Amino acid sequence: MPDNYKSKRVTWSWLRLEGVSFTILPFEDRDSVLRDYAGLLASIKRGVLLARRVDYEYKYSDYSFSVSDTAFYLRAPAGSQVVFFNPRPEEPARPRVKRLVNPATLELEDGSYARVLVAYGFPAGLPEGLLYTLYTEVSEAALVFREVDKVKAVRMVETARRRRITSSSQGVTEAHEAGALEELASRVLSGSSLFEFYLYFIIKDKEPKSLNTRANTVKSLLKGYGVDVDAPPIQRELYNLETCLGVMCIEKHYADSESLKPLFPLISEELHDPNGVFLGVSGTGSPVLLDVWSKPNLNFVIVGVTGSGKSMTAKVYLKRLREVDDKILYVGVDPESEYTRVAGLLGAQAVEIHENQRLGLDPIKLMRSGALEIGQVADIISEVYGVPENLHGVLRRELFMNSDFADSFVEFASSVKDPELSKYLQGATVPPDSLVYEGEPPPLAGSVIFGLKNVRSKRLKILISALISSHSYNTLLTKARRSVFFVDEAWLFMETPSIVSLFENLARRGRKHGAAFLYITQRAEDLARTPQGRTILEQSATVLLLRQEPEGRDACKEIYKLSDSEAEYLVNAPVGSGILKAGRKRITIQVLPTEGELKAFSTTVS
Ligand SMILES: Nc1ncnc2c1ncn2[C@@H]1O[C@H](COP(=O)(O)OP(=O)(O)O)[C@@H](O)[C@H]1O
Ligand SMILES: [Mg+2]
Repeated sequence: MPDNYKSKRVTWSWLRLEGVSFTILPFEDRDSVLRDYAGLLASIKRGVLLARRVDYEYKYSDYSFSVSDTAFYLRAPAGSQVVFFNPRPEEPARPRVKRLVNPATLELEDGSYARVLVAYGFPAGLPEGLLYTLYTEVSEAALVFREVDKVKAVRMVETARRRRITSSSQGVTEAHEAGALEELASRVLSGSSLFEFYLYFIIKDKEPKSLNTRANTVKSLLKGYGVDVDAPPIQRELYNLETCLGVMCIEKHYADSESLKPLFPLISEELHDPNGVFLGVSGTGSPVLLDVWSKPNLNFVIVGVTGSGKSMTAKVYLKRLREVDDKILYVGVDPESEYTRVAGLLGAQAVEIHENQRLGLDPIKLMRSGALEIGQVADIISEVYGVPENLHGVLRRELFMNSDFADSFVEFASSVKDPELSKYLQGATVPPDSLVYEGEPPPLAGSVIFGLKNVRSKRLKILISALISSHSYNTLLTKARRSVFFVDEAWLFMETPSIVSLFENLARRGRKHGAAFLYITQRAEDLARTPQGRTILEQSATVLLLRQEPEGRDACKEIYKLSDSEAEYLVNAPVGSGILKAGRKRITIQVLPTEGELKAFSTTVS
């Protein structure tokens, strides 16, 4: 046992970490992942990073899958502040050791046989993402690391360097190693931390014989990278690293966080969020399970050309989300009245809006109830009535001074003092606009979807959408534990920055109430044109890119940092296929409606 393991008693705690996409990422994105990894090692200083294979069956309706997943854990000194890779407390559930079958084979309580393989020889250079390639073969891969005291580290690398330099008979590999050591030494001397580390694998199988075969497979896989592994003699323990005999019998290895980068273990190229919504299959045929609430923010954007399957995906998502959580509330703005048609399947009430209907969406009352702020009302009204820039201040002032004295917005608009402004607000005082403001707002009890197909004027569509979103947001969404506010055909609003800004504001405020924001639109570049739209695009933790127009390829590439081949794929993507980015995962996806869903949710006239 290395004596420095004995010297200090440390209490450990386990955290579950989130795996990230890696092998498919462009170079800069990989770098940013690796920086976080280096940050993790540096802040924890000692611990174990563990990757465990988890196999399970997943079923949704007629679809069923054998899933092979990897779960990641960190064993860190208790009380460590871990900020990287979305940590949450959880201990890995591992079967206990029952008995020693032969010197290198253990029988576990779950009836399987297991063996530890310890890496004892490393080449000077390793490819990035190497561990990921082993995850289908091994049951666990563990990287044990421990920072070496600074003074000791400097002394060590200097001694080693001197020894290498004075040794005369260097072969090619040794010279290579010496070069690598030289680099390591200079990094450590300039302040980089030095780590003592061990890498080991646990392999498992049903029979001792197949375990041997598997051990050989893993050995030769690793040999291919120049890594030598072997089973230490007389295995007793699998998991308890402090007493692991394997660690005792091997030479210590040293690296700084730079040279540990190839051993970055937290790689997972699938999206299997626990309790996630089943959306379809990834490029490798694995189910895609999305939990928007596990992401750093709750914005979900779907972008794709007409007919690429955006609305179908949204409907399937909303329907299945309710199956996962029946308490969830929806508020939807549905410009084409596609969702109102199937509102029952989404557990929502459908409200069809007509132009000659009194809607009770009075901006002044919305202001009083806290649904809108004075600045938002001023911006929306200015845009809807084309109030020129030089009168914006006047409108704001009048709203501030006089709105308290007006019973309604119509009254306010008819009694505006400034003669210039008054001219612009004339339209607000007569139908159809006055009808939007007059009357009582629709009563909102549960989920509700507003169909706007019968509102033909685009200007009114926009005005109504803005007011109704604020109203329902204020009355419903802040009260639910979890909710989704969705807007389809969102390109309609692009030319009206105040509305985009309002949506962006709702999305931001919604986060602390668990209100997710689902934004569905055709062209990313439209949205990217306004700063508010750009904020929505860039700050959405979840983005589904469906088929893009060739003209939109570059905008998408730029906004989402896609590679050439990804952009190419999107231009030719069949219906329901695309790229899903969720948190730090990035996968290709085929959205799979069930037969029933396809039938119910299709919009193509049959
Ligand atoms: N994932 C899918 N699998 C199979 N067919 C789909 C899928 N998504 C959409 N479709 C078909 O394509 C049609 C158009 O899809 P839709 O979601 O309305 O497109 P968009 O909203 O992008 O214009 C749907 O009516 C449906 O018949
Ligand atoms: Mg659509």
